[in-house]
Amino acid sequence: MTGIALLDPETDQPVPAPSPVPSSPAPPPIPADLESVLKRMRFPYLRKAAPDVLATARSQRWDPAEVLRILLEEEIKGREAATRRSHRKQANLPTGKTFSSWREEDSSIPAPTQQALMTLEWVGRSENLAIAGPSGTGKSHFAEALAHKAIDRGMQVAWFSLESLTAHVGRATVDNSVAKAIAKITRANLIILDDIGMLPSGQAAAEAFYRVIDAAYERRSVIVTSNLHPSGFDSIMPKTLATAAVDRLLHHAHIVLTEGSSLRLTQATTGKGVKPLH
Ligand SMILES: Nc1ncnc2c1ncn2[C@@H]1O[C@H](COP(=O)(O)OP(=O)(O)OP(=O)(O)O)[C@@H](O)[C@H]1O
Ligand SMILES: [Mg+2]
Repeated sequence: MTGIALLDPETDQPVPAPSPVPSSPAPPPIPADLESVLKRMRFPYLRKAAPDVLATARSQRWDPAEVLRILLEEEIKGREAATRRSHRKQANLPTGKTFSSWREEDSSIPAPTQQALMTLEWVGRSENLAIAGPSGTGKSHFAEALAHKAIDRGMQVAWFSLESLTAHVGRATVDNSVAKAIAKITRANLIILDDIGMLPSGQAAAEAFYRVIDAAYERRSVIVTSNLHPSGFDSIMPKTLATAAVDRLLHHAHIVLTEGSSLRLTQATTGKGVKPLH
């Protein structure tokens, strides 16, 4: 074997090579008939954990009830994680922003309000949240962070902009499945409609908005973010539909107003919007 021997700076003698860390031997596979039963029962996570758990159980003489409990818990944990992964994928969240990159003190939303909203207790009560304020004040980031938290807690979430919702409902109109599409959206515990009023909305957008708000009314939670207070939505979409939708939206809604200058602009003007080029 070639190699450079390290010298001990004190003695100038070669330092002995470290002995390799003994790797723990792979646990023996589970018996084929047990493997086959677990496959038929569709217990993939239990099956995966079984060789390790059974080897440890044997060597440490665990109570059989304990072995059973640990194996079933592995299956439950695995299934819950798979459900959360699938909910996160279905939710269609735009940027992956969570509370880990959220700075509470940089937000104009009072800290106690932020904390109360983060408990998501209001989602359990099917209440709504309207976040209104100028561009760049963290409305979408806060809404998305709440959405991630809801998914972490096992809830289903659906995220739309008014444009994507309108397109979605529009596609369902073509094959007469609007009711089905709305029912599917309102299966989510929390529905987010982001950036209402950024672009002018016509009859189709107002209809899509009204349908979702009506179907979710007193059954599901909706978060709406906008540069406008919802009471002004009738200035950006047909009045009758807007009024009916906003009436339902605000009946059980927390209203949070953000203010201040755009964090985007602050970051851009202080050179924090980009990583320096080398
Ligand atoms: N309190 C905060 N902590 C960390 N980042 C923030 C905070 N507030 C805003 N930001 C960041 O500032 C940028 C703008 O925020 P965001 O997109 O949420 O604004 P917005 O209010 O939705 O704006 P618009 O009305 O233009 O859609 C984003 O990069 C966001 O991550
Ligand atoms: Mg936004």
